[in-house]
Amino acid sequence: MITSKQLRQKYFDFFKSKGHALIPSASLIPENDPTVLFTTAGMHPLVPYLLGEPHPLGRRLYNVQKCIRTGDIDDVGDSWHLSFFEMLGNWSLGDYFKKEMVAFSYEFLTEKKYLAIPSERLSVTCFAGDADAPKDLEAAGAWEKAGVPKNRIHFLQKADNWWGPAGQTGPCGPDTEMFYHVRDIQEKSTPEFEKYNKEGTFCEIWNDVLMQYNKNEKGVCEEGKQKNIDTGMGVERTVAVLNGNNNVYEMDMLKPIFEKVLELAGRKNGKVGAEELRSVRIITDHLRAAVMILGDNKGIDPSNVDQGYVLRRFIRRSIRHARLLKIEGAFCKEVAEVIVKVMGSVYGEVERNKARVFNELEKEEEKFSVALENGTKVLERKLTFLDKSPKKELNAKGVFDLFQSYGFPLEMTIEMCKEKGFSVDTKGFDELLKQHQALSRKGAEQKFKGGLLDNSVETTKLHTATHLLNEALRQIVNPNTSQKGANITAERLRFDFNADEKLTDEQVKKVESWVNEAINAEADVKMEIMSVEEAKKSGAHGVFDSKYGEKVKVYTISKGNKIFSKEICGGPHVKNTGELGKFKIQKQEAVAAGVRRIKAVLE
Ligand code: ALA
Repeated sequence: MITSKQLRQKYFDFFKSKGHALIPSASLIPENDPTVLFTTAGMHPLVPYLLGEPHPLGRRLYNVQKCIRTGDIDDVGDSWHLSFFEMLGNWSLGDYFKKEMVAFSYEFLTEKKYLAIPSERLSVTCFAGDADAPKDLEAAGAWEKAGVPKNRIHFLQKADNWWGPAGQTGPCGPDTEMFYHVRDIQEKSTPEFEKYNKEGTFCEIWNDVLMQYNKNEKGVCEEGKQKNIDTGMGVERTVAVLNGNNNVYEMDMLKPIFEKVLELAGRKNGKVGAEELRSVRIITDHLRAAVMILGDNKGIDPSNVDQGYVLRRFIRRSIRHARLLKIEGAFCKEVAEVIVKVMGSVYGEVERNKARVFNELEKEEEKFSVALENGTKVLERKLTFLDKSPKKELNAKGVFDLFQSYGFPLEMTIEMCKEKGFSVDTKGFDELLKQHQALSRKGAEQKFKGGLLDNSVETTKLHTATHLLNEALRQIVNPNTSQKGANITAERLRFDFNADEKLTDEQVKKVESWVNEAINAEADVKMEIMSVEEAKKSGAHGVFDSKYGEKVKVYTISKGNKIFSKEICGGPHVKNTGELGKFKIQKQEAVAAGVRRIKAVLE
């Protein structure tokens, strides 16, 4: 039996022994990259370093990173897919490469002191080669040398053996993946491997990305400045398979949550049908993801846009599945209490932010319960009306109306109609939904056009300007102002902070002049590495919550003795404020009670 705590520790011990430095888990909300909504992998916050910027802790790093992926959300409810998961990772930033990494992986997986997986329970895949990169015989050779026989090394295409970029552009490359045999089997050929893999006989546990390329805005993979290694091991899956479980919900971080949901559904000791099991799993996964987003230091609230929308979907989908399980009334907090207890032991911010987590969950639950109730009434009225017509089918517009105006999921409409002897025009609904999504996707593409990497100079400038704005607000508006969120595109910066009132015109002018003075002073931007304690003592602003990462980066903007700003931050920043141009506030607005937003540009 291995626990997730033991797995994390073993991974940490191993990479520490190989000269790597521990970095903290970054926020779930990406700092300076508008191309993705959530941190999807440990490499994501490291993009600037993978592109060549020196990392303060050196060229060899490791950590455990909180991740959210929504691409496979429809698969959640099966044995292995999760929307929130923890990823163990290690990186070589232009240091060691393929051969060394394969040797590290094999050692960690099979050595007695670490995972002690018998070699015959492992299969690996390598890249088969195409126009972007050759067949990876080098990786295959390294596996063979380490001890994996040829018949368990398979070559697959890009769809399987290529990783990245995380956003639209950036570092990417072929990868080599490691699979654990859940059942006792010895495959002999690649088709056999693929067949067994589809049947769930193998479970992917680790991915070594051999990050040699950089995808540019034209979609072309160019040779990168340096050859990097980026790996990711899923904590939940690995713990589950090592313990002989055939799904992730039995591992220690998920089991207590899963059991709580079962208990609320009154099924703890009874039989659970396949559909019910799916619902219990979906609630377990989705509420955990919701708690992790709400409990992040960059806490997001449920809303109809961006991350807030995804959060809302997680919560609403949980409530719907709870109703399918006949869990009536408010239940989210009860499950969230278990989640906070389990997750807070690893990610302290969740424990510290728990009041907010519970509060937001309860508010959203209340809101949706009302919508559900009203939607049900509307549906019943529609059905009474339909009862008089010969065709007992609810038309597409009716279903879409419920979906759109009441957040009423299709499956629920279908189920309720069925109970009353009506069918539903799902085809027509799909059409309407497609039309609607095509429109919103178009909007999203517009919005996310570009991205961090092709605009890195502009975003870097705005990032430095954000530090100046933050300090200006403290100097001019309120010394206790603190950052509640930030989002930077190549065109503008958006900064959320705590305040009850709009800035007066005079305050806006003063803040602008303060920032522009710092710009005109041609102040230097210096980065120092220090412990969290030293950073605190030095008067740096920022979030002091690093648990693993003992060292942080502190950026100081100063000219002679005058310090304009001092903040804990991951960077990157410009070298001198003289590069910034003229700072101008374009807009201010309220985003939530006590939180205001400023949009500003550099002209
Ligand atoms: N970034 C790689 C992944 O997510 C390791 O699989």
